[in-house]
Amino acid sequence: MFSKETYKARREKLKEQVGHGIILLLGNAESSMNYPDNTYHFRQDSNFLYFFGIDRPGLYAIIDVDTDTDIIFGDDISVEDIIWTGPLQTLNDHAAQAGVLKTSSLISIIDSIDAAVTQKRKIHYLPPYRADNMQKLTGWLHISFELLKASASVELIKAIVAQRSVKSPEEIIEIEKGVNTTIDMQTKAVMLAQDGVSEISIAGIIHGMAVSAGGNLAFPTILTVNGQILHNHLHGNILKNGQMLLCDCGAETAMHYGGDLTRTSPVDEKFTSRQKEIYDIVVQSHEAAIDLLKPGVLFRDVHLHACEKLAEGLKLLGLMKGDVKEAVHQGAHAMFFQCGLGHMLGLDTHDMEDLGEEYVGYTETLQKSTQFGLKSLRLGRKIESGFVLTVEPGIYIIPELIDLWKSEKRFTDFINYEKLETYKDFGGIRIEEDLLITENGSRILGKPFSRDSEKIKSHAM
Ligand code: GLY
Ligand code: MN
Ligand code: MN
Repeated sequence: MFSKETYKARREKLKEQVGHGIILLLGNAESSMNYPDNTYHFRQDSNFLYFFGIDRPGLYAIIDVDTDTDIIFGDDISVEDIIWTGPLQTLNDHAAQAGVLKTSSLISIIDSIDAAVTQKRKIHYLPPYRADNMQKLTGWLHISFELLKASASVELIKAIVAQRSVKSPEEIIEIEKGVNTTIDMQTKAVMLAQDGVSEISIAGIIHGMAVSAGGNLAFPTILTVNGQILHNHLHGNILKNGQMLLCDCGAETAMHYGGDLTRTSPVDEKFTSRQKEIYDIVVQSHEAAIDLLKPGVLFRDVHLHACEKLAEGLKLLGLMKGDVKEAVHQGAHAMFFQCGLGHMLGLDTHDMEDLGEEYVGYTETLQKSTQFGLKSLRLGRKIESGFVLTVEPGIYIIPELIDLWKSEKRFTDFINYEKLETYKDFGGIRIEEDLLITENGSRILGKPFSRDSEKIKSHAM
């Protein structure tokens, strides 16, 4: 945990911004896998971690803005429990570490909420994403499942997004620790990518590295020779010379701040010339995007610039044609790059996505596009000093998309379908880095880690 002053200051700021009522924050509970006692690994809710730091299942908290009191609800374990688990820190001790002086039993939250409902006080809560917390909220607040998310407090969401978007120096240190472990995992994956090796064996080894570093995976690893499948969590293939391995992985630290990096490497010692040509286009797009990063810039514009760089390279290669800016404006480049350039990063890999992309990545005046490709851009708004975000352009050759658009004669002014047919077995390439936005520009987080097509394999060996 950070010091209790950190958590107290965060809650003070939250109270100031929300202004009135009570704020209800639900921690996560254990979740059973295949029988009650056999649970998934426990992951605390990130908002609960941000304001209280207590990494323990089965807690709720009320921050009473009107009376300026913070209460944590939870139960200490009994001697019967201690037989199985050994003694655990008391709730009072845990709460004190977060600067909270008042605790109460778990069940007593019902009375506290009942009292607030009776007194018609405003109860601010966040959109729940776990079924058990949804069920609890519907019961406590006497609200239907259908209305639950829509009735979440926009004031609370906006106040939390404003705070969590700008990372403090101590948070940046934690994120960078996660990034450095992720770099070790990536280096290992590039090194192990050899003819005859299975995807699952590499995925297992790098998972172990995240755990050994004291944390866990921040998200399920994407490690595949089918890099064109964007969120491919299958690890069923044996690597063969001539293929590429795309590895998108992230370690989170014990405090749950994490990294999110992608490298695509040749299974052979070197890329083939066809692979290198496409890889270098992605590198150029990546570098052009990073060059633009500074406070005040719209991330949507950085995304569009990166798309133009991709289209420029693809045009030189003969896979695209026509006016590059117009091609990107109309969305033709999305044949090759179907997703967004990046997202916020912090306690969550897609930071604060539970609070709603419309608040995290967009504003009232800048709404998300509905155009194919651009509609998958999670972050469009102006970036600020202290933001941590990913930059992750890619080129993905998806045979089904080629067949569909070709049959519909879509963007025939911009896409050279005849040549593209010869690339149908190409796969996909992504390069992803994590960056801190500084006063004047940006800084790539973590220790040096090559993206160079000539060096990526040799540097890892
Ligand atoms: N690892 C998921 C992503 O890059 O968004
Ligand atoms: Mn990623
Ligand atoms: Mn990412």
